[in-house]
Amino acid sequence: MKLYAISDLHLSSPENRQALKELPPHPDDWLIVAGDVTRSIPRFRAAFTLLANRFARVFWTPGNHDLWTVDPSGCEARGLFKYNELVAVCRSLGVITPEDPYELWPESDSPLFIVPIFTLYDYTFSGEGVRPDTAVSWAAAAGLECADENLLYADPFPSRSAWSAARCRYTERRLNKTAVLGHMILVNHFPLRQELVNLPRIPRFSIWCGTQQTEDWHRRFPVTAVIYGHLHTPDSRVIDGVRFEEVSLGYPRHWDQALGLNAYLRQILPTPADPAFHSSQLPQMQQFG
Ligand SMILES: [Fe+2]
Ligand SMILES: [Fe+2]
Repeated sequence: MKLYAISDLHLSSPENRQALKELPPHPDDWLIVAGDVTRSIPRFRAAFTLLANRFARVFWTPGNHDLWTVDPSGCEARGLFKYNELVAVCRSLGVITPEDPYELWPESDSPLFIVPIFTLYDYTFSGEGVRPDTAVSWAAAAGLECADENLLYADPFPSRSAWSAARCRYTERRLNKTAVLGHMILVNHFPLRQELVNLPRIPRFSIWCGTQQTEDWHRRFPVTAVIYGHLHTPDSRVIDGVRFEEVSLGYPRHWDQALGLNAYLRQILPTPADPAFHSSQLPQMQQFG
């Protein structure tokens, strides 16, 4: 029995959809899917129907692409309402979301919880002296704008930053309660620490990558590992004794289709003898996108 993780399946790409179809069954294993699956709810449902049939248990946390609303004038839900629809789809399939009780990993001698969380971003991952309220224009001055600015609505919150702050408060309450019960593997789409955001060609894109409110969560809570994606930069490192695993697949240009999707499942548990082995085997991204 193993716990695997992957993120950023980006099923709008036919190559990625085909790879998902070809993923072999893992009837004894659990799978974490750390966001950016697809913005289409029918496609989202189809993907998790397939995964729930091929793994013993599946976990999901939302990525920004999952939360996009392309036609806000039609019948597509926005913001929190879109998130709630995705949670309902997951629950109908037995997929565990950040709104559900945390599952215990059955192979651990002491309690170890799999903890999907959702904390979004608030423009605090920026350069020295850049205020969050000027961060978008600071990025625009370098020619950068994230599609989230037009497609990721925050309804009913006044802003994505306000939604992020509410998510952090909600998550901290739950983590405080869980901390007295055992250790945890945190699963978030967005990196918890700014130092993890290494985008040398587009450094100012960092403002759409996380919140400083989560910077010390791996120390404040009994965290064994942190699983995340969003950066399309597979990575594996240890900070303050805690494993940080960036498990993105990404767009077709980011990965080698000849290897198949199975090669990109990152083993989280049992802990590999050399945790960095897997990411060292993966092709590194050419450019975030
Ligand atoms: Fe992504
Ligand atoms: Fe993302």
